[in-house]
Amino acid sequence: MTAGAAQQHRANGSLRHLLTLEGLPRSDIERLLERAQGFVRALGTKPPISSALEGVTVANLFTEPSTRTRVSFELAAKRLGADVVNLEVQLSSRVKGESMLDTVFTLQSLHVDVMVIRDPEAGVPELVAANVAPHVSVLSAGEAHVSHPTQGLLDALTVRQQKKQFDRLSIAIVGDIRHSRVARSAFHVFRTLGVQDLRIVAPEPLMPGAGEFAGCSRHKTLESGVEGVDVVMMLRIQKERMGQVDLPDADRYFAMYGLTPERLKLARPDAIVMHPQPMNRGIEIASDVADGKQSVIRDQVRNGVAVRMAVLADVVGSRG
Ligand code: NCD
Repeated sequence: MTAGAAQQHRANGSLRHLLTLEGLPRSDIERLLERAQGFVRALGTKPPISSALEGVTVANLFTEPSTRTRVSFELAAKRLGADVVNLEVQLSSRVKGESMLDTVFTLQSLHVDVMVIRDPEAGVPELVAANVAPHVSVLSAGEAHVSHPTQGLLDALTVRQQKKQFDRLSIAIVGDIRHSRVARSAFHVFRTLGVQDLRIVAPEPLMPGAGEFAGCSRHKTLESGVEGVDVVMMLRIQKERMGQVDLPDADRYFAMYGLTPERLKLARPDAIVMHPQPMNRGIEIASDVADGKQSVIRDQVRNGVAVRMAVLADVVGSRG
């Protein structure tokens, strides 16, 4: 078990932090998905509003860019009645997480109860979780290439809405798996929920090391990877996390790994297409597919708010 996984629960077994989906029991995942589903509303209708987090203060500490994750954490907290503060922490003013802890202690003194953290350095959410007072919860909003637990949950919720079950599904995750925290969290959640046929599809430089993604089949061509699948999850190339790697240019990448309408026909006729966004149209995905009938990309965004409401309500509600 990773340090993060061992740290997430209180002594009574309730969920205190959400740092990783690795090792998170199936019962926790299913409870969070069920709660999140209860917060989903059709677009054009009023979002659910509750006072579950009245008197609670949530701080968003993001040291990496974010659109969907930050906005949806903020909306989730507000829709539950919490006070929210957003901090754009300057990376340059921080050395190895040390001054991050000073920021965290400051926030703690200001009565912040939940810290939502996105950071490019592995280990920062765990470091913060290990140092905060017992009443404070830490939620990872994306940790380096390692983990993005609320993204994994919203991906699972989106699949559950469409497919109703997990164990008979074939799921292909395509693109820059090596540098993707989204792929790692998807791997853990789909494995725990019982998906048998989990495939990763990438050119060699973007494949993860042999010790990771145990039990997934590895495909070097998109054609073999998406053949007969129920779910195709496309990923962006994470240039910001790469050194010098020998990659085809954008046109060649699209020619080899871009999801086009023709290639999507290799999947099951009712297959769904997912992407965590930001999308590079014309590089990993054709616009016709991103905006097409099989795309659930906008559902993923909507589900993100519901999942973050569920996680916030869960960790605060079980505080005792
Ligand atoms: C992803 C991330 O930041 O990990 N975006 C997101 O949270 N929806 C994916 C990415 O940046 O490619």
